[in-house]
Amino acid sequence: MNRPVIIAGNWKMNGLRSETLSFFQDLGERFMGGGGKEILPAFRSGKIEAILYLPALVLEHSLTAKRQLPIRTGAQNAHWEKKGAFTGELSGPMLRELGLEDVLVAHSERRQFFGETDSTASKRAKSLLEQGFRVLFCVGETLQEREAGQTEAVLRRQIQALQGLLDGKNLRVAYEPVWAIGTGKTATPEQAQTAHLFVRSELKTLAGAEIAAQTPILYGGSANAQNADSLLSQPDVDGLLAGGASLDPSSYLSLLVSGGKKALSS
Ligand code: PGA
Repeated sequence: MNRPVIIAGNWKMNGLRSETLSFFQDLGERFMGGGGKEILPAFRSGKIEAILYLPALVLEHSLTAKRQLPIRTGAQNAHWEKKGAFTGELSGPMLRELGLEDVLVAHSERRQFFGETDSTASKRAKSLLEQGFRVLFCVGETLQEREAGQTEAVLRRQIQALQGLLDGKNLRVAYEPVWAIGTGKTATPEQAQTAHLFVRSELKTLAGAEIAAQTPILYGGSANAQNADSLLSQPDVDGLLAGGASLDPSSYLSLLVSGGKKALSS
């Protein structure tokens, strides 16, 4: 198994320029000042990746603000067309021009509040992968769906959007149960493992055993410094996608340390 551990953060609609600057300054001091020392070998060997999905307006700023930190920044969404009459959207070439390589696709808030469907999510992922981006594709059931026993059916349907796109490399999946996002109700490590195993079996059906085994599956939904180790102890939890906990340099650093330890022990 050679999947990298990925510790991702999604700032959502948070982050002024001044806050972005102080976040990276603070994180840089903590990381370079010793907090990141034990996990540096995991970065050097490519066993761990750190990605922060920031608001578009601070992306350019983040590239200078992060200085030497081994963290990539990326966009929270992008359109499948490369340009045109799509008011309010961002294109791949716009992100590429800044030197960015990462895009988050189909976050549940895009699905819930902005009309993202399995079909539009699939088009975004396909186009962005063709343009050479790394895509983190989100799936997850609502509380109502879980209580109605539909978790697997929902995940299966959402994963179908990845038909023909999985490559075991640039397309990664985040399992984010909607009931755990921003609620403080984290899935238990066992619930996360069960869902991840199911997602992996669906990936296998779509793309075969080898690609399924190479595709990182991240857990998201109230992941934080306190629960990171136990979530990451699960064999199919290959990383975390944190919202709230990625806004604070000290808690994001502890997620990185937890991820680094998993990466170095594998
Ligand atoms: P949360 O958000 O960590 O604040 O629950 C996770 C996400 O929406 O990606």
